[in-house]
Amino acid sequence: MSQNPNPHPAREFTPSGTLQLGVFFQGVNSGTIWKTAGSGSQTDFESFRRLAQTAERGLFSAFFLGEGLRLREHLGRPHALDVAGRPDAQTMLAALASVTSHIGLVATQNTTYNDPADLAHRLSSLDLISGGRAAWNIVTTDNAWTGANFRRGGYLDHADRYVHAEAFVRTAKQIWDAWDDGAIAASAAAGRWSAPGAVRRVRHAGRHYTVDVTPRLPRSAQYRPVLFQAGDSPEGRDFAARQADVIFSAHPTFDAALDFRRDIVDRTLKAGRGANDVKIMPASEFILAPTPQEALEKKEWVRSLQIGPQQAIAYLEQFWGRELQSFDPDGPLPAIDPVVEETSETRGSGFHGAKARQLADQWRAEAKEKGLSIRQFVSARTSRGDSTFTGSYTEVADQLAEYARAGAVDGFNISPWLIPSGLDEIVDHLVPALQERGVYPTEYAGTTLRENLGLATPVRPAAAAEAEARV
Ligand SMILES: Cc1cc2nc3c(=O)[nH]c(=O)nc-3n(C[C@H](O)[C@H](O)[C@H](O)COP(=O)(O)O)c2cc1C
Repeated sequence: MSQNPNPHPAREFTPSGTLQLGVFFQGVNSGTIWKTAGSGSQTDFESFRRLAQTAERGLFSAFFLGEGLRLREHLGRPHALDVAGRPDAQTMLAALASVTSHIGLVATQNTTYNDPADLAHRLSSLDLISGGRAAWNIVTTDNAWTGANFRRGGYLDHADRYVHAEAFVRTAKQIWDAWDDGAIAASAAAGRWSAPGAVRRVRHAGRHYTVDVTPRLPRSAQYRPVLFQAGDSPEGRDFAARQADVIFSAHPTFDAALDFRRDIVDRTLKAGRGANDVKIMPASEFILAPTPQEALEKKEWVRSLQIGPQQAIAYLEQFWGRELQSFDPDGPLPAIDPVVEETSETRGSGFHGAKARQLADQWRAEAKEKGLSIRQFVSARTSRGDSTFTGSYTEVADQLAEYARAGAVDGFNISPWLIPSGLDEIVDHLVPALQERGVYPTEYAGTTLRENLGLATPVRPAAAAEAEARV
C-alpha cells in the first residue's frame, strides 16, 4: 500500500498538455564536451551557479544532481570517460538555494549506503533552507564498487536493495510526518520546545538498520521533500509507483515514452494511487540551431568531441576486460576476444562471464554491417542517441508539443553537453517557442517545488497517527 494515499484516486490518466523542464548537471559522464572554447569547470561553484540561474530564467522546475560515491575506474585506473568527480549534491544544492529563488533542488541519494534518520534530516534541512524547494531522487545504486568504500562493504542483491529501499523511504516519510503543523511552541511562556503531543517519535527495527528518533525539524513550506526515483527494473517501477512523485526515466522516444506511461499508470493504480499521481521526466539531450541543416552539422561536431580516440578505446576496454591501447580507434572492433571472467561494466548490473563473448560477437557483426570504426561505434552507443532531440528551434518545439498533448511525459530532464552555457540556447529559443505553443508555463506557479510541479500536498495516513508515541 502506498504511503501517500490519494482519497479519490483517478482511474483514467488525463494529459496535462504541458511540460516541465529540469536540468541535470552530470559531472561524471561521457556527454559533456570539455575540450572546446567555452567549456567550464565541472566542479567550480561558478559553473553550477551559472547553469542554475539560466535554468531559473527559463522557468525550469528542477536543478538535478546525480550521485557517484566513488570515482569509476577500470583496470585500476580512473575511468577515461568521466570528465570529473561530483561535489556532494546536498552541499552544492544548499549553496545554490541562496543564489536562486524558485527552481527545485534535486539531490540523488542512494538508499543502500545511507541511513534513513540521517538522510531524512539532511533533506529536511535542504527543504527548510530553500523554502520548500528540495527533492530526493531515490536510487538503490548498481555500483558495486561503491560498497568497497563503505564500512559495511559489499552490496545488496538487486531484489534486496528494493526491499531495503521501501523500508528506508517509509521511515523517512514517518520522520517528515512526525511534526504536526504548529508543533513549535509559540512562546517562551509555554516552557517547552514543542507543543505537547505535536511531535511523534519514530521507531524501526529491521534487518538493515534501526531507528529510534524524535525528528528534529518541522515541516517545510512544501510539507516534505518531493520524491523522485530513478531505476528501471520491474521492481524499481513498482517501487516508484508506490512511493515516488516523479520518475526520472530513461525512455524519451515518443513510442517508448507512451509505453512507459501506460506501464507506470497500471502499476500506480495497482498501488492504490491515482493515474496522474506519478509524473515522468525522461533524461534528454538537445542539439538545436536556427535551421535543421545547421542542427545536423552541429550534432556531428558535438559527437566528435564527446567521444575522442582514447575515450573510444577506454569504453571498449570495460567490456573486453583487457588493454586495447594498441588498437586503432579509427579501425574495426578488436578481433581478439574479451577476458571473460574480468568483464563487467558495473560489477552489479552489467553483463559478465560468457555473455561478454556473445556481446563482442554481436557488436563486431553490427559494426561490420554498418561499416563503423571503433570510434563511430562507441559514439553511437554512448551518445544517448535515443534521448537526443536534434533540429531547428521550431521543429523541436513542435515535436515536444506533441509529447505534451499526448501525455507521453510530464517534462524532460536535460543534460547539457556544454557546461556552463549549455542551456542558453534552450532558454533563449526553445522555451519561447514552447510558450507560443501553449505547452510551457509563462511564470512559476508558486515558490515551492511541489507547487511548480503541480503535485498535491501529502496526506498523513490517519491510522498511523494514533499508533505512534507522542512526545
Ligand atoms: C535515469 C537514471 C538515472 C540514474 N542516476 C543514478 C545516479 O546518479 N547514481 C546512482 O548511483 N544510480 C543512478 N541510477 C541507477 C539506479 O541507482 C538504479 O539502482 C539502477 O538503475 C538499478 O536499478 P534498476 O535495476 O531498477 O534499474 C540511475 C538510473 C536511471 C534509470
